[in-house]
Amino acid sequence: MNHYLADDQLTKSQIESLISLAIEIKNAPHNFNQVMAGKSVAMIFEKPSLRTHVSFDMGINKLGGHALYLGQQNGKLGERERVSDYAKNLSCYADLIVARVFEHQSIKELAEHGSVPVINALCDVYHPCQSLADFVTLAEHFDDLSTVKLAYVGDGNNVSNSLMLMAAILGVDFTLVCPEGYGPSQTMLNKAEQLAEQSGSTFIFTTDMNKLGKQSVIYTDTWVSMGNEGDEDKNALLEKFHPYQVNHALMDKAQASLVMHCQPAHLEEEITTALFDDENKSVIFQQAENRMWAQCAVLTSLLID
Ligand code: NVA
Repeated sequence: MNHYLADDQLTKSQIESLISLAIEIKNAPHNFNQVMAGKSVAMIFEKPSLRTHVSFDMGINKLGGHALYLGQQNGKLGERERVSDYAKNLSCYADLIVARVFEHQSIKELAEHGSVPVINALCDVYHPCQSLADFVTLAEHFDDLSTVKLAYVGDGNNVSNSLMLMAAILGVDFTLVCPEGYGPSQTMLNKAEQLAEQSGSTFIFTTDMNKLGKQSVIYTDTWVSMGNEGDEDKNALLEKFHPYQVNHALMDKAQASLVMHCQPAHLEEEITTALFDDENKSVIFQQAENRMWAQCAVLTSLLID
């Protein structure tokens, strides 16, 4: 593995190794506290971040390395200087680049022109650090991931793309339910279908909430992602999405035992406060914690292999 850019560039065994390594680091972080000794990471953030910023910074520190946060104070990526030059400059100093960007193309250019590994910390199409942390979380709850039925209900976005692709690679049955017009691109659907066929799992995409069926876990995310704000009248959007809210009634109907959310949550929109706070069903803060351990596994793998 040279970079960590997109879920569909990973194999089943690579993902399984990363999940095992994340759990190993989580159980005994002191065994890994020199993995990044003397190494520095440049972290580019074009968009806001709480969990990603903090979990990378603290995770890198736990591995003995140094993290530098680069916001937009030096100008927007690609405007003050070309993305390719940004990548070449950072490669002079940093051992690895973490980037949260508006467009996936910027991630590709950083990887192409830099000479150090690049980690995608969210773009418009993927959020592979989140999906890895989510499967670490699921592995902590289910001994055999192939028995899990995972559904994502809400806006088809970067988080659902990464989740459905990783599920398809791992052989986890996946159902995606989005309102009409808010599903993933045809390219993403084709990829998920193809990967699910290869792994022997099922992949269902529907706009009909009645087709959700029995699930082990239901996942949701904000109805409006960063960068898409203001695209549409908020009231019209809330009305369209309301039937797709994840709440206790939906959990009961699907007989789902766990609810997941990548956060930040918009309470009473995509998820009710009562379900978000339900300590018997919500594994949302476990997902947040596992962001750090999953990313430690990715950093370790990229720097050691
Ligand atoms: N889909 C959300 C995820 C935030 C972690 C966004 O892109 O804003």
